[in-house]
Amino acid sequence: MIILAIESSCDETAVSITRDGREVLADEIFSQVDIHAVYGGVVPEIASRNHIQVITRLADSALQKAGIGRREIDAVAVTYAPGLIGALLVGVNFAKSLSAALNVPLIPVHHIRGHIAANYIAYPNLEPPFLCLVISGGHSQIIDVRSYTEMAVIGTSRDDAAGECFDKVARVLDLGYPGGAALDKLAIGGDDTKYPLPRATIADSPYDMSFSGLKTAVLNLVHNAAQKGVKLDRPALAASFSAAVSDTLVPRTLKAAGELGRSRVAIAGGVAANSRIRGDFEKAAARDNITLYVPPLRLCGDNAGMIGCQGYYEYLAGTRADAALNAYATLGI
Ligand code: KG4
Ligand code: ZN
Repeated sequence: MIILAIESSCDETAVSITRDGREVLADEIFSQVDIHAVYGGVVPEIASRNHIQVITRLADSALQKAGIGRREIDAVAVTYAPGLIGALLVGVNFAKSLSAALNVPLIPVHHIRGHIAANYIAYPNLEPPFLCLVISGGHSQIIDVRSYTEMAVIGTSRDDAAGECFDKVARVLDLGYPGGAALDKLAIGGDDTKYPLPRATIADSPYDMSFSGLKTAVLNLVHNAAQKGVKLDRPALAASFSAAVSDTLVPRTLKAAGELGRSRVAIAGGVAANSRIRGDFEKAAARDNITLYVPPLRLCGDNAGMIGCQGYYEYLAGTRADAALNAYATLGI
């Protein structure tokens, strides 16, 4: 089954062609990162306009690279939530038009479910059930993946997402936007014990997380140092911060896996590219006899291959949309 899938929830426009879910024949991505970097964050209106400008070209180029003709498309899948509403609507309307013109089914896909599905592409033998930590610019959630389409949120961030926290700290360290990857690089070789930073816990909610206190602690530390004219050890601060984020994520996820009896744990989302978090997960999983699934970097960030993959399993489960499909800025998994 050939699916053309579209992702436009934030600042990446992507179109993929997949066969039977896991085989990615083409995955075209246009990143708007450079366009938004000058503003220090994603400007929703500009994101929507850029999606409109490139989406048709990306779809043509994905078909060409996959060697697939329009008439060979069996279904169209699209991210419809959560994300920036105007950005999502560009993809949703393009998908609606395409499915109507080709007279093929339209499959709505939840963006977070797509991130989880990146693991199916990376690991051809992986099947539910397993536990997945999704860490992206907008979400930090521990999700019990019971089947391809049945999921339960076990823990979630009560305030900032992990990626949001990385980006704010990177900004105050003048690392540009989005600064997660640059902060990751800066942390290499830094003394992760030099700056003691908080690891928040939430009473009676062992799997929920909070990152706003950590973010504020780093911002205060940087501003106080600037006022006093104290020079900061930047690699040590980046390493201490990365350690605090990792200490918030890794033990919680493995504890939840133990409690739920899951022997397999996957990670997903842009922040899953972080070297400290990946390394800590590898050590902890080996210690706890957990099989760990870590997608390659190109599948951690937003892409349309993951939407096509999840779209296939949604299709098998009978999920369909029609011309009335809307986009939603927030929506439970
Ligand atoms: O999943 P994603 O591409 O988009 C959303 O759905 O949000 O995630 C983007 C986030 C950004 O906050 C970015 O700074 C962060 O992922 N990120 C990283 C790294 N690479 C990307 N954070 C920490 N370390 C990295 N290596
Ligand atoms: Zn994402």
